[in-house]
Amino acid sequence: MSAKLYERLEAQVRALLDGESDFVANAGNFAALIYEELPDVNWAGFYLAAPSGELVLGPFNGRPACTRIPPGRGVCGAAVTKRETLVVDDVEAFADHIACDSASRSEIVVPILRDGELFGVFDVDSPVKARFTADDRAGLERLVAAFEEIR
Ligand code: SME
Repeated sequence: MSAKLYERLEAQVRALLDGESDFVANAGNFAALIYEELPDVNWAGFYLAAPSGELVLGPFNGRPACTRIPPGRGVCGAAVTKRETLVVDDVEAFADHIACDSASRSEIVVPILRDGELFGVFDVDSPVKARFTADDRAGLERLVAAFEEIR
């Protein structure tokens, strides 16, 4: 079921971004699509790597969120440090979780690398514990890869 959903979403990402090269426009639509189409999601968006080493809030959908995440902090910073997707089943059990929306219970963060350098992360939150499965991890990595391929 999930693989089919992500197959459809990848086609939608490609259609949405077709012919447009503006990052803010494309990233905003990408975040909106995921926020609208994935069940049980209360936040979806980008944090972008700044020269200071912080992650700065980028295009997103959901409640207003923290604007700057210090290097290595939070679930986002931990995913950046590991340079791999991080799934947290219970954010209350993750000591360094940064709570932007008190409704969030689980989270997935996909790092985005450009030419081996950190460009940012794509972060999705859910109000449901253990919302993100191995299929979601593979699916969101696939969507981020499609975004990066055609941006
Ligand atoms: N929870 C994240 C912060 C960003 S919000 O979820 C939008 C973290 O711990 O890095």
